[in-house]
Amino acid sequence: MARQSAYSAAMGPLQCLLYMSHATRELGADEIARLLDSARGRNEAEAVTGALLHYGGRFVQVLEGEPDAVERCFARIASDNRHARLTRLHNAPCETRRFPDWSMRYVGCAAQPDRAVGAFLDQLELAPGPDNVRQAIALLQRLAGGGGAWQVR
Ligand SMILES: Cc1cc2nc3c(=O)[nH]c(=O)nc-3n(C[C@H](O)[C@H](O)[C@H](O)COP(=O)(O)O)c2cc1C
Repeated sequence: MARQSAYSAAMGPLQCLLYMSHATRELGADEIARLLDSARGRNEAEAVTGALLHYGGRFVQVLEGEPDAVERCFARIASDNRHARLTRLHNAPCETRRFPDWSMRYVGCAAQPDRAVGAFLDQLELAPGPDNVRQAIALLQRLAGGGGAWQVR
């Protein structure tokens, strides 16, 4: 299930991890659907929430949850050969979940190329400072909310 109820604030310390990677090949809609099914099942079992942006051959994903659960999730993701050149852009404690309702919201290709998002991802990759990381998480939150030209699942 993609959507799940908000987690209790009393759960303990929370960690937020953001990474970027490059797809090693194009993934078809069926493969994305299977990937999401499996990812959501595992994330739900470990109370990991977040969102995944897939654009221009790149992935940007936010994972949030209990620190060990986030680390285990990232280890699973990092060993997946459907992407490479994984770079952790951010990994720090956080106060609250930004994606409490999603075991892994997926934001896929826009109806039309979104040059602003493409340019921002270039910049994020080159200079992943705190401002760009904050903006990346805010961008994922905005896109995950749906309603725009982007496909969300
Ligand atoms: C871009 C990308 C994002 C992924 N995100 C997650 C995730 O959030 N959680 C997860 O458990 N697996 C995720 N995966 C899948 C794992 O890397 C791994 O393939 C999966 O856990 C193995 O599941 P299976 O044994 O059911 O095939 C992701 C893979 C890719 C390529």
